[in-house]
Amino acid sequence: MLWLLLPLVVTAALIWFGLVHTPEYRRRFFGTHGLGVIQLKSQLGSALLGLALIQLFLALWMYGRLPGLRAAPHRVGTAHRLIGLLAFLLSIPIAQQCILAYGVSFTGPREALHSLAGCFLYGAFVAKVIVVRHRRWPGWALPLAGGTLITVIAVSWYSAALWFLNGFRFPGL
Ligand code: HEM
Repeated sequence: MLWLLLPLVVTAALIWFGLVHTPEYRRRFFGTHGLGVIQLKSQLGSALLGLALIQLFLALWMYGRLPGLRAAPHRVGTAHRLIGLLAFLLSIPIAQQCILAYGVSFTGPREALHSLAGCFLYGAFVAKVIVVRHRRWPGWALPLAGGTLITVIAVSWYSAALWFLNGFRFPGL
């Protein structure tokens, strides 16, 4: 049961840090500044979403949910682990820039949604790793943890990267 607390602690710690930290709005990102930061973060955020979708595809394959594809060979599992690690590493500099430059922001519904989704992402990541490592969980726990992680990545992307790439507008709203 204590394991269940860890994702909550990680999420709460990030939210707390984002609230108490003084934003550094002019913070650079891999040598870019101003609009260049938003552009680069939006592109890397889109790459992150792409990796998340590949993960979804590989997971469905491993669970035998893709009609027409034979049972997933062992290397599909290996690829899933490596791409998962790559996605995690890619997310770190983006989230680090966000939390140090803006903190957790409640200036509007979009900012609040994005900030909370960004912090929840790491709680969801910890939950996914715990469920993968401890095989005692019921069968639905892994798809639930993986699905939550992909959903949170999609919400983080939708509420910031897509908003920017779509001319500072939410598509469909
Ligand atoms: C610790 C987690 C995170 C926090 C607290 C956070 C917070 C923020 C905040 C407050 C903004 C400014 C919103 C605005 O005024 O427009 C922002 C912008 C942005 N975030 Fe995040 N974010 C986090 C994680 C992520 C992740 C994982 C992604 C990847 C999809 C991401 C991508 C972006 C992008 C592309 C922007 C717009 C560019 C910019 O304004 O610099 N963020 N974030």
